[in-house]
Amino acid sequence: MIPNKSDWQQLATYLNEFGQISTEFLTGVAQRPVQSAVQTMPHQSLPDTGFDLDGALSKLRETVIPNLSASAGPRYWGFVTGGATPVATLGDWLVSTFDQNLSKGSDSIATDVERQTLQWLNELFYLPDTFKGTLTTGATAANFLATITARQFVGLQQGIDVAKDGVFGLDLKVFSATPHASMIKSLGMAGLGQRQYQSIATLPNSEAMDVAALEAALECSQAKGKIVIASAATVTATDFDDLQAIRKVCDKHQAWLHVDAAFGIFERLLNGTNGKTKGIEQADSITLDAHKWLNVPYECGMFLTRHRQQLFDSCDVPAPYLVSSGDEPDFMSLGIENSRRFRALPIWLSLQAYGREGIAHWVAKNIEMAKQLASHLEQSVNYELMHPCQLNVVLFRPNCEGLTDAQADQKTQACLDNINNGGRLLLSPGKWQGHKIIRAALSNWQTDEQDIEIAKAALAAV
Ligand SMILES: Cc1ncc(COP(=O)(O)O)c(C=O)c1O
Repeated sequence: MIPNKSDWQQLATYLNEFGQISTEFLTGVAQRPVQSAVQTMPHQSLPDTGFDLDGALSKLRETVIPNLSASAGPRYWGFVTGGATPVATLGDWLVSTFDQNLSKGSDSIATDVERQTLQWLNELFYLPDTFKGTLTTGATAANFLATITARQFVGLQQGIDVAKDGVFGLDLKVFSATPHASMIKSLGMAGLGQRQYQSIATLPNSEAMDVAALEAALECSQAKGKIVIASAATVTATDFDDLQAIRKVCDKHQAWLHVDAAFGIFERLLNGTNGKTKGIEQADSITLDAHKWLNVPYECGMFLTRHRQQLFDSCDVPAPYLVSSGDEPDFMSLGIENSRRFRALPIWLSLQAYGREGIAHWVAKNIEMAKQLASHLEQSVNYELMHPCQLNVVLFRPNCEGLTDAQADQKTQACLDNINNGGRLLLSPGKWQGHKIIRAALSNWQTDEQDIEIAKAALAAV
């Protein structure tokens, strides 16, 4: 098939196919197995002449669509998975229709939509407008931007412009209690080295940082530059670090404070600025995620910092054909990619359609449903609740009474495999206090009482 300009005259055909596929998939997502049984593509050679639209779509229908997971559905509780609301999904469809490039702001209003979206996100989370930043592909990319912005800041403290001269001679240490794995990955990618991370003790029966231990570590450290990474919330126990206390300690030691609040920031929609994220507004940088609890399609995260200049210095694109387009820095000079999709649109449309109230509604519902599931497990003779449910994550394992630790871990893994193979739920493994556990994270806007009943039945069957 050779593409032709006149193909767009067949737009109705394309939309018709699109409508059918999307309707079937989205209306059936709650019924399809959450985890697909087939995950390997059949061998097929590269098509030379192509099969035309019909042929290509029938391949898609035969081999791909039946074997997709229901990650957009209400019982995909692995990782921290948001799904996508109808409005955000529509927004994402339109991103492809409009196919804008938000590298610079000189040819379209789209770049300013991203600026407005970032400003609205500040407002949504009650953050001061001193926070500036960019949309990213996810929280990992945001954590990487945090690392290189902090690296630039710490370099300047030591008279080194890292963006220009590199990390040679840079003397720094990174301190954290329970960083997300993507934070550690970022240290390697940023050339700081994963071994520059010093683990700080946690409070008893918690993943939250022991601030006194942090203070002692900073005091003992000979490093000239210090970066502290705090969590709001941790991915397993959903613990929040005491950000106010950590800020004070950081100030005393001129340390950069980054807060990974990928999903924990949404707690702010329920409890405002005096809840568990109190003090986050004093961070130097913050990671947020939109494809988690904001329920927009992948890939969408956010990076915010009070030091945009250091972000800009780390990412600026100095090419004559890319000269900056205005007073505000171009997004290509505030992040990893030069060419960037219009990923602001699904968020912008969601904020317009649902407002703060709509988003807070599904966040509260997820927490309520997680607590219902936790209380069911607590009363069950077949399962053990491993930690009280504090937010949207439930930690449990099968009843392991009388088993050795090794046997308990083995039983837990087998139980998890059985649950996931059953296709009604998808859960992740995890570790809590040295024990293998099963982790259910509820962040999909659709999850309701019916799903909790299905989950109870699936757990009972195992
Ligand atoms: C606290 C935290 N930070 C970072 C990440 C990485 O997010 P992403 O998959 O969007 O890169 C996650 C993912 O679960 C997370 O929970």
